[in-house]
Amino acid sequence: MAQLLRFLLVTALAAAVSGHNITDILGGSPDYREFNDFLSQTGLADEINTRQTITVLVLNNAAFSAVAAKHPLSVVKNLLSLHILLDYFDNTKLHQITNGTTLSTTLYQTTGNANGNVGSVNITDLKGGKVGFGSAAPGSKLDSTYVKSVKQMPYNISVVEISGPIMAPGILAAPPPSADLNITALMEKAGCKRFATLLASNGLIKTFQSAADKALTIFAPNDEAFKGPAVPDLTKLTNAELLSLLQYHATAKYLPVGSLKTTKDPINTFASNAASKFQLTVSSSGDSLTLHTGVDSSRLANTILDSTPISIYSLDSLLLPSELFAKSPSPAPAPEPVLPPSPSPASTTPSQAPSPLPASPPSPLPDAPSASPSEAPSSAAERSTSGKSHGVHVKPSALLALTVTAFVISATFL
Ligand SMILES: *[C@@H]1O[C@H](CO)[C@@H](O)[C@H](O)[C@H]1NC(C)=O
Ligand SMILES: *[C@@H]1O[C@H](CO)[C@@H](O)[C@H](O)[C@H]1NC(C)=O
Ligand SMILES: *[C@@H]1O[C@H](CO)[C@@H](O)[C@H](O)[C@H]1NC(C)=O
Ligand SMILES: *[C@@H]1O[C@H](CO)[C@@H](O)[C@H](O)[C@H]1NC(C)=O
Ligand SMILES: *[C@@H]1O[C@H](CO)[C@@H](O)[C@H](O)[C@H]1NC(C)=O
Repeated sequence: MAQLLRFLLVTALAAAVSGHNITDILGGSPDYREFNDFLSQTGLADEINTRQTITVLVLNNAAFSAVAAKHPLSVVKNLLSLHILLDYFDNTKLHQITNGTTLSTTLYQTTGNANGNVGSVNITDLKGGKVGFGSAAPGSKLDSTYVKSVKQMPYNISVVEISGPIMAPGILAAPPPSADLNITALMEKAGCKRFATLLASNGLIKTFQSAADKALTIFAPNDEAFKGPAVPDLTKLTNAELLSLLQYHATAKYLPVGSLKTTKDPINTFASNAASKFQLTVSSSGDSLTLHTGVDSSRLANTILDSTPISIYSLDSLLLPSELFAKSPSPAPAPEPVLPPSPSPASTTPSQAPSPLPASPPSPLPDAPSASPSEAPSSAAERSTSGKSHGVHVKPSALLALTVTAFVISATFL
C-alpha cells in the first residue's frame, strides 16, 4: 500500500512537471527501440520529460546502433544530448526557416562538455524541400536529413526522425578512464572527508574504484553527518559491521538524479547479500530527494559527480541500515517518522528528514566545485541553493520553457 502511494505520488509529481513522456512516445514504434532504451539508460528520458519546449531528433535502430554499439555509455549520452534541441521544431517550422538556415542549442550545450558552437545544431533548408542537419561547428557537413515527424505536441515536444547521427567535433572522444578519477579526492573536496577516510582505511575505495568502470553510485555522508547526539558511536561497531555500514552507502548501479526520482523499487547496496537485504528506498518531493533505510532518512544534499556510469552525492545524514540498527543502538535512532512533539531543536535526529527544516546546520561546504563534466549548469544551480535547503535541486531547468523536438534519425548512416 505504501508502495502504491509512493508510486502514485511519484507519478503525480512527474506529471506535474510536464505533460509528456518520451519513453511512452517512442515506445509505440519498434523502429526506435534502441534509441529509446538508451534515453532511459542514460537518464536523458527523465531530463526530456521535465523540460517544456523540446525537440528530439530520433534515429532508427540501424542508424543508431551503428554508433551506439562502438562507444561507451558516457559517449553515447553526449551524442544523444546533441540530438535533443532546446526549442520546438515540427515539420512545418522546419520547412519554413527564416532565410533557410538556423542554429539550435541542444542539451549537449548545457553539459559543460561543449565548447563554442559544438553544442549547437545547424538546420538548413536544402534544395527540393529537404531539411539538412549538422553540427554548428565551422566546417561541419549537413549530412543528416529530415525523414518524418513522429510526434507533435505544440509547443511542448516534437519528435522527428532524421536519417543519421549528427556528429560534432570531438563528441566521440572517450572521457578520461574512470580509473583516472580520484573518487577520494572528489569526496574530500565536497566536504565528505570523514567518509572518504573511512573508505580508504577499509580498502573499500578499491572496490568502488573498480566498480566505477561499469556502474556506481555513492551516497557520501558529509562531515556534519558524523556529528551530533543521534549519530551512533562507530567505534562500538565490529569491523564487519562498520564495513557493512560503509558498503550500505553505495550501489553498483548508475543512478543519476532523474533515475533516482523515478526509482520505485528498493535499491540493493554493496552490503546486500543473500542473508541480509541492506536495501534503500528513495522518495522525492518537489526538488528534493530523500533516501530511507527503515531506521532513518537522509536528504541528498548535493551532486558531487554525474558522469556516466558514475554518480556521487553528498548526504546530510548517515544511512543507518535496519540490519544493524533496528534493535536498539545506543542513541536509539527513532523508528519511522515519529515526529517529536517537543520542538527541541537540539535533538534533531537524522530520521526526521521529511521536515522542511534542515536537520543540521546548513553545511558550510564551499560546495562541490563539481568536477562533474556533465550537467554543470544544473549542479551550479544546486549549489547556489544548497545552503538554504538540503534538497538536490534537480530541475531548475524544469521551469524553463524549453522545447524538445525529437528527431528520429533513421536513415542509414554510413
Ligand atoms: C513513461 O512511460 C513509460 C512507458 O510507458 C513508463 O514505464 C514510465 O513510468 C513513464 N514515466 C513517467 C514519469 O510517467
Ligand atoms: C535574414 O537575412 C536578412 C538579410 O541578410 C537579415 O537582415 C536578417 O537578419 C536575417 N534573418 C534572420 C532571422 O537571420
Ligand atoms: C549552416 O551550414 C551551412 C552549410 O555549411 C552554412 O552555409 C550556413 O551558414 C550554416 N547556418 C548557420 C546559421 O550558421
Ligand atoms: C503543453 O504543456 C502544457 C503544460 O504542461 C499543457 O497544458 C498543454 O496541454 C500541453 N500541450 C499539448 C499539445 O500537449
Ligand atoms: C587521490 O586523492 C587523495 C586525496 O586527495 C590522495 O591522497 C591520493 O593519493 C590520490 N590517489 C591517487 C591514485 O592519485
